[in-house]
Amino acid sequence: MERKTRIILALDVSDREEALKIAEDVSEFVDAIKVGYPLVLATGLEIIRELAEFAPIIADFKVADIPNTNRLICEQVFEVGADAVIVQGFTGRDSLDACIEVASEYRKDVFVVSEMSHPGGAEFLQPVGEAIARMAAEAGASGLVAPATRPERVKKIREIVGDKLTIISPGVGAQGGRASNAIAAGADWVIVGRSIYKAELPKKAASEIAAEIEAELRRE
Ligand code: XMP
Repeated sequence: MERKTRIILALDVSDREEALKIAEDVSEFVDAIKVGYPLVLATGLEIIRELAEFAPIIADFKVADIPNTNRLICEQVFEVGADAVIVQGFTGRDSLDACIEVASEYRKDVFVVSEMSHPGGAEFLQPVGEAIARMAAEAGASGLVAPATRPERVKKIREIVGDKLTIISPGVGAQGGRASNAIAAGADWVIVGRSIYKAELPKKAASEIAAEIEAELRRE
């Protein structure tokens, strides 16, 4: 993934044509597209291959199973052309290792969820988020998913993993986080869904967030 705008589009629409249209429209302002259950369950896994024409694809399946099942899931994801997969860390080191093994066979990336961006993310996951971040670093994951809704947590995770891992950060816009704050706290990329795909003019919305991030990076 090349760092240009530092935006990852979360494309959570459920219509194939709409997904392809938005992807093409905003492609100059996003560095990657995150595809998850809403779009894949509605249209099929092949949508990943189609969208990969516009940007690198991060498959957000929050993989959270036993090692063998994780392995089978990751193989499907990379076979269809995804560049990265998002997996849960709470299932433990062996489950994570299985994902990382498959990813390295395909020369792809694994991002590990340490703590989630919604209010409930603070209930059970947050207390173990730092341990998950340390495990992800030791296991050789490419990066972590940390909440833009809590920039102080992004900062903490960055302190833990140093420059070794990439941090991608959801929760910007609709969930209340600000792109510039997440980047200032140490995120490499922000993940933005509704604020772009539900905007009247998605391209304009993406360009405005890109400009906000650019201003923050100039300030640093
Ligand atoms: P919105 O519309 O809120 O979409 O901008 C955010 C996207 O990111 C996903 N999401 C998360 N994924 N850890 C994750 O791995 C998180 O903490 C998290 N919070 C939001 C969400 O599913 C949507 O696609």
